Amino acid sequence: MEHNQRIIFTNDISAAIDEALANIDYNRLFVLTDTNTAYFVLPRLADNTHIARAHNITIKSGDMNKTIEATAEVWRELCANGATRKSVLINLGGGMVTDLGGFAASTFKRGIRFINVPTTLLSAVDAAVGGKTGVNFRGLKNEIGVFNEADAVIISTCFFSTLPLAEVKSGFAEMLKHGLLKGAETYDRLLAYDFECRDYDLLLSLLRESVQVKADIVRQDPHERGIRRALNLGHTAGHAFESLAMSHKNPIPHGHAVAWGMVVELTLANMLCSFPSSRVQEYAKFILENYGAFHITCKDYDALLTLMSHDKKSENGEMNFTLLSDVGEVKINCCASDDDVRAALDIYRDLMHI
Ligand code: GLY
Repeated sequence: MEHNQRIIFTNDISAAIDEALANIDYNRLFVLTDTNTAYFVLPRLADNTHIARAHNITIKSGDMNKTIEATAEVWRELCANGATRKSVLINLGGGMVTDLGGFAASTFKRGIRFINVPTTLLSAVDAAVGGKTGVNFRGLKNEIGVFNEADAVIISTCFFSTLPLAEVKSGFAEMLKHGLLKGAETYDRLLAYDFECRDYDLLLSLLRESVQVKADIVRQDPHERGIRRALNLGHTAGHAFESLAMSHKNPIPHGHAVAWGMVVELTLANMLCSFPSSRVQEYAKFILENYGAFHITCKDYDALLTLMSHDKKSENGEMNFTLLSDVGEVKINCCASDDDVRAALDIYRDLMHI
């Protein structure tokens, strides 16, 4: 069954909240924030009559707090404040808040309706859209969760103009991924983006197009049985970099890990699917210039291979990657051997000048 998630782009967030709630016959409204959005964002919505009557639930910020315990806190607050199946939860925050809030709402009384209001570029372009909800468990990211789409996703352009550049770049990496999946025309416009000038209107139009790429893929395969795996491009190597950095107590932003992971995976795509070398070089140059390099040595290879083969996208003991034969030509379920990945890591280090 194909289903179109309601995605509202707006520069008037209060009007968008009214619009999203207009057709919902709810009894109580709850707003989930983390400690940052409770302080910096929620007060900006105080004039909205729905929000003024809502009960605020605040959880601690940060991915390390995306836990089942924090979810239980949300359930407790919902119970203690009279939530019923006719209540609605608005998740106001980055991916941590929309993932955890979506999960809490989807499981409370077998599911109440929820609305996502992403406040970071990364969550607007990825986490808030497409219905993946969940929490981390026993050290594994998003190990517990359900697929369930928000009633509406409100992407308010007012949040992104003040984001630090590193956060913009983190979200932009997922936009590059969507461009690589969509085709040369979209991708080349992303590669031409100049972070020095930081043309905000251009960023927003690229964001809009990028969200649509994700929404189109999710519509075809909401539960990731096939083509949605395209969205894993860059993530098998990217998650391994993220975990390696975490194990060295030197965490890196998710989007940066994906940006570097895509250098490895486009290299693999070149080796295994004839993805053009010129495109690999061009992408690596853009990443090196704008993100720098994630430093690894050959001593890290065993750990990275272990992390990649433990990734949930691996099947039958082989490493499973989403690759491309060209920009816009997706190949899901590509298998790579340990030797292929080691060779790709060698080339990654050459491309990144390390
Ligand atoms: N973040 C990848 C997906 O939503 O499928």
